[in-house]
Parts: sequence; structure tokens; C-alpha cells
Amino acid sequence: MGTNTYKAKHFDLSGLTGISDKTLEMHFKLYEGYVTNTNLLGERITEILSDGQVDQEEMPAYSELTRRLGFEYNGMVLHEYYFGNMKRQGGGDPPAGSRFRTAVESSYPSLELWRTDFASVGKMRGVGWAIAYLNPATNAVSNHWIELHETGNIAGFIPLLVMDVWEHAFLLDFKPSDRPKYIEAFMSNIDWDSVERRMQR
Ligand SMILES: [Fe+2]
Repeated sequence: MGTNTYKAKHFDLSGLTGISDKTLEMHFKLYEGYVTNTNLLGERITEILSDGQVDQEEMPAYSELTRRLGFEYNGMVLHEYYFGNMKRQGGGDPPAGSRFRTAVESSYPSLELWRTDFASVGKMRGVGWAIAYLNPATNAVSNHWIELHETGNIAGFIPLLVMDVWEHAFLLDFKPSDRPKYIEAFMSNIDWDSVERRMQR
């Protein structure tokens, strides 16, 4: 651990519907902060391990750094999924016959109901994310609430569609109480090709 150095990725997303360039610029900066902190935590944990052991007096710092790694690491990765599943002139329905749509239609009574479920997870009170996951063992799609960045991620499931619903994702464009409007905007920017690529991994 700690030997990897992560670099912030670049996303060209200006001109989205309902999510302003100003919001994106601010959001990219926040994302870069997660990359920086992931790297820093990795370095500090490596330092502690460098003498081949975790001493009793190092244990409190070691524990705290390791717990924080879950927050920073997931914060980095989830933002990459989020920015990566939007594009200009996106949205609409996932293409008929696509693997994603087929999996959704066999997991939910209808595509519309999946959509309602996904948007409703996003409207839940709290700070976090709505994520549609693929269970690779069954090919079923299910929507989940992730608290902060790290609580609720399901081991082994593949994130397909990731929506940030922290207020920083929309506060410059919508009031905090208008999260449903932001969710509508997000849905109108979805890059379904990117979702489909995640299905095929
Ligand atoms: Fe965010």
C-alpha cells in the first residue's frame, strides 16, 4: 500500500444541461482534493510501516489514517465514475437491446420503475450518492444509497451509474431544497455509452 500515486483525471464536460460550468469547475477542484488526500494518506501509512511494524504508540494514528483512506479513496473513485457517466447532449433512455437496459428490465418490473427508484434513492435525506450497481454473479441491477463516500458500497458489485447528491454538486445552480430538479438535470446528461462499457467489463 502507498506505492501508487494517483493523478487527477481530466473531464471535458462544459455545456451540460442544468449543471453549470461554474459548478463543474468547483467540483473538479474538490475531486482533485480527494486525489491529493488519497496520495497523502498512502504516504503516511507507508511511513508508519517503513520500520516493518506498527508500534503500540503508532496504532492510534495508523488507525485514523487507515479509516480516512476509505473516505478519501472512495471520494476520488466515485467522482471519476460520476464525471465519467455524463456528457453533453446525453440523457434519454438507455438504448433498447443494450446490456444495461436488458439487465434493468429483468431486474425491475419496468425501466420507468428503475428510473423512479434511482431518482428516489437520490432524493433521500442525507449526504451521499445514488448508485446503480451490477451484481456480476446474477447480472441483476440494483440501486443503493451510499452515505458520505464509503458506507454502503457493496463488495464485488460493479458501479454502473453514479450520481453525486452532495449539495456541492448543485448548490450554485439549485437551492438545497431543489435537489429533485438537480436529479432531473443529471438524468438529462447521462452518457449511456459509458454505462454500457461498465456492463461489458
Ligand atoms: Fe462531489
